[in-house]
Amino acid sequence: METMGNLRRTHYCGTLRAADAGKEITVAGSVAKNRDKGGLVFVDLRDTSGILQLTFDENTPKAIFEKAGTLRSEYVIMAKGLVRERSAKTDKIATGDVELDVTELRILSDAEITPFEIKDGVKVRDDLRLKYRYLDLRRPEAHEPIVMRHRITKIARDYYDQNHFVEIETPIMVKSTPEGARDYLIPSRVQQGRFFALPQSPQLYKQLLMLSGFDRYMQIARCFRDEDLRADRQPEFTQIDLEMSFVDENDIMTVNEGFIKKVFKELLNEEVQTPFLRMPYKEAMSRFGSDKPDTRFGLELVDITDTVKDSEFIVFSGPISAGGTVHAINAKGLADKLTRKEIDKLVEVAKTYGAKGLAYTRLTADGETSSYEKKCTEAEVAAIRAKLDAQVGDVLLICGGEDTEEACTALGQVRLEIGKKFELFNPKQFNFLWVTEFPLFEYSKEDGRYYAKHHPFTMPMQEDMDKIESDPANARARAYDMVLNGCELGGGSIRINDPQIQKRMFRALGFTEERAQESFGFLIEAYKYGAPPHGGMAYGLDRLCMLMLGTDSIREVIAFPKVQNSGELMTGCPETVEQKQLDELAIALVQPQP
Ligand code: AMO
Repeated sequence: METMGNLRRTHYCGTLRAADAGKEITVAGSVAKNRDKGGLVFVDLRDTSGILQLTFDENTPKAIFEKAGTLRSEYVIMAKGLVRERSAKTDKIATGDVELDVTELRILSDAEITPFEIKDGVKVRDDLRLKYRYLDLRRPEAHEPIVMRHRITKIARDYYDQNHFVEIETPIMVKSTPEGARDYLIPSRVQQGRFFALPQSPQLYKQLLMLSGFDRYMQIARCFRDEDLRADRQPEFTQIDLEMSFVDENDIMTVNEGFIKKVFKELLNEEVQTPFLRMPYKEAMSRFGSDKPDTRFGLELVDITDTVKDSEFIVFSGPISAGGTVHAINAKGLADKLTRKEIDKLVEVAKTYGAKGLAYTRLTADGETSSYEKKCTEAEVAAIRAKLDAQVGDVLLICGGEDTEEACTALGQVRLEIGKKFELFNPKQFNFLWVTEFPLFEYSKEDGRYYAKHHPFTMPMQEDMDKIESDPANARARAYDMVLNGCELGGGSIRINDPQIQKRMFRALGFTEERAQESFGFLIEAYKYGAPPHGGMAYGLDRLCMLMLGTDSIREVIAFPKVQNSGELMTGCPETVEQKQLDELAIALVQPQP
């Protein structure tokens, strides 16, 4: 193996173009491909910017030509030479017009055969890719999302700086607080039996920074939540986190729409229209069956409660008499595609989301089939069809439930399934909206109590202030989510800055005075000394990156992601620790370490 000696890189591979022909340059990187064609050797050299073809031919000094013949995939090399235009150009790579006529070659590291081929499009099991993530990241396809993520972060820092936000780091070892997701805990050695938690978000710190007079805060903040993983969720993830003083919802939305406009223009050359559509939560639920509606396609839910409330068919009238509703979708023109088999699959989707079932009518040119029309009167059948504007070629899907939200959610999922399956939307379109007026509370049947839907520091809407005690189920919050193509990109709220309202919130959440004091005493105390009105929001940086890249896996935009069981395959953690470490922390395990 050789050293770099006096060679120093002068150019990155992917940057070279026809205009560089005639320049003497030095490049460095890994061998992506080596083709030996007798008197001619071509080497594709890969670095972080792309690929450049190195050429060795009859004019190459003999020793260098022979060395080129020994190169294997993933050898790390440096090459000096003259850029020249290729005789056979290709538009498959950005540097397809040029090649490097090599005059000096150094082999800096050889390489064993890799567990999988390092190239785009190669089919490799996910667990193998993640075990050797450092190899996987060499593939341009895997490499680019990480660079894109850097660009988003850089634009965020610049944009918010220009808008007078100050970046401030908040602690990673914090107090464990009730509410929210499960905490990751860190045992203290110095204070045995006590624990720090990793922050689920910098929420309380950023609010306190407003009380400290910083006025506008931002942070690229790592957050930790011990939740079950999903395609768009990781136990550690990153937020672009923001807080502002002396603002209302409009001010926060406007400044953030500005950021989105800028980042989409600069990185994707997309013109995002602002202001975004704003839709109250209730409307989103009843029209789309979701608090994060994908508005790229129609197939909206229609409330047919009034039409079927007196139906003899108990599946419709039953839930209504118990205080629920019945909603329907007209899958327009999809009767040929939505076969009985496909409809059965949709019934399963609805059931997965808590519905008892999904009634249907399929109107094809060859005839009609229905799971409910025989059980309804002719007048009812006609009324349902009229309400849904049913025509030949349509499929009507109906779902009722005592719990309106649950039934709408189930039908909303059916809507999404149809949209995806039959490609009813343009995947390259970006539909943003704000969902507003979220419920203040969420009732847990399991625990028999209310939880804060956003978090306990969210300001109730002025007109619903009395409902904190009198009608918590219908109290709305000054909270909003930014939604993109059916994904919750970010969320935030105006915060409570009045200690009396904060106390009422804690009471409504079932906190005794003592427990509120114990958990949040520092916050209650802080508000005594003057608190500006403030609010903010946080974007999921990983999700933003994922949606901008058009991928549906959050792992692609994280250098070293976690897998389903929250572990990390490359280093193999979580891992057992030495008994001595446990002893120092005064921790005894209920079960011995495996
Ligand atoms: P919230 O909990 O809504 O709000 O989170 C804000 C955004 O963070 C992203 N996000 C996640 N991304 C990946 N994996 C996860 N497990 C995960 N959980 C959340 C989402 C979400 O919209 N402190 C408040 C914000 C505020 O009120 O200012 C908060 O954390 O994109």
